[in-house]
Amino acid sequence: MTPSDDLARNRAFWDGQAHAYAEAGERSWSGEPNWGLWDVPEAELGLLPTDMTGLDAIELGCGTAYVSAWLARRGARPVGIDNSPEQLATARRLQTTHGLAFPLHLGNAEATPFPDASFDFAISEYGAAIWCDPHRWIPEAARLLRPGGQLVFLGNSSLMMLAMPEPENEAATARLLRPQRGMHRFEWPESTGVEYHISHGEWIRLLRRSGFEVEDLIEVYPPDRADGPTRPYPFVDRAWASAWPCEEVWKARKRR
Ligand SMILES: C[S@@+](CC[C@H](N)C(=O)[O-])C[C@H]1O[C@@H](n2cnc3c(N)ncnc32)[C@H](O)[C@@H]1O
Repeated sequence: MTPSDDLARNRAFWDGQAHAYAEAGERSWSGEPNWGLWDVPEAELGLLPTDMTGLDAIELGCGTAYVSAWLARRGARPVGIDNSPEQLATARRLQTTHGLAFPLHLGNAEATPFPDASFDFAISEYGAAIWCDPHRWIPEAARLLRPGGQLVFLGNSSLMMLAMPEPENEAATARLLRPQRGMHRFEWPESTGVEYHISHGEWIRLLRRSGFEVEDLIEVYPPDRADGPTRPYPFVDRAWASAWPCEEVWKARKRR
C-alpha cells in the first residue's frame, strides 16, 4: 500500500463521515476548550499555552477546525489543514456562523505547502495524530515550526490500540489482542480508514530524531464527574478508561 493510496482512502472515509461529525463540531465551536473522548477541560489538561497572543499556529488535520477557533479566541493566528473537502466545508460554514475567519487549506498534513519555520505552535487532536504516518508528519511538523516552537498532539493511547477489539461494537477488556512490537499501520474490518499508532519508544526516538525534545506525555483519564459519558465510543467504557489511559497527549518542543 503506498502513501497516496492511504491518503485517498482516508479522504473518501472522512468525506463520508463529515455529516455525522458536523454536530460535534458545532458544539465544540460554541464551547470552551475541552479534549478527547471524555471532554476533559483545558483547565485540567493544559494543552494550550496560556498566552497565545500573536502566535502563528497550525492545526494538522483540523477537521471542523474547532481547535483552531479556540486558538484564534486566545489571540493566535491559526491555519488549518485537512485532507477532506467535506470536513472543511463544515469548518467554513462554522467560520461564517461564528464570524471568525482564518485560513483553511485542503491538503496532506504529511507534506504541507507552507514555508520552513513559519509557525510557533502546531497541534492535532485526532487529526494527523492518528490519521497520518508519524514517520512523515512528525518531520513535517518539525520543518514547519520555528526553533523553540511547540508541538502538541492527542490521540488514542498506544496501550488502547493493543486492547481495542476488532468488532467495533465491543469494548476493550483487560486482554492484549495484538503485539506492540512493530505496531504502526492499522486497518479495521468495519472501517475503510487507515490509522497509524506507534509505541512510546518509537515516538520518543522519532521525535528526538526529528529535532524535538519531549516535554511531556500526559495520560488522559475521564474526569470524576457524575454526568460524564459512560461509553462515548463503543470501543471503550469508563471503567476501562479509569484504570488505563485510553488517550494520551504528547508535548514536544523544537530544539533551538
Ligand atoms: C477525527 S477528525 C479530527 C479533527 C478535529 N479534531 C475534528 O474532530 O473535527 C480527523 C481529521 O483528520 C483528517 N485527516 C486524515 N488524514 C489526513 C491527512 N493526511 N492530512 C490532513 N488531514 C487528514 C480527516 O480528514 C479528518 O477531518
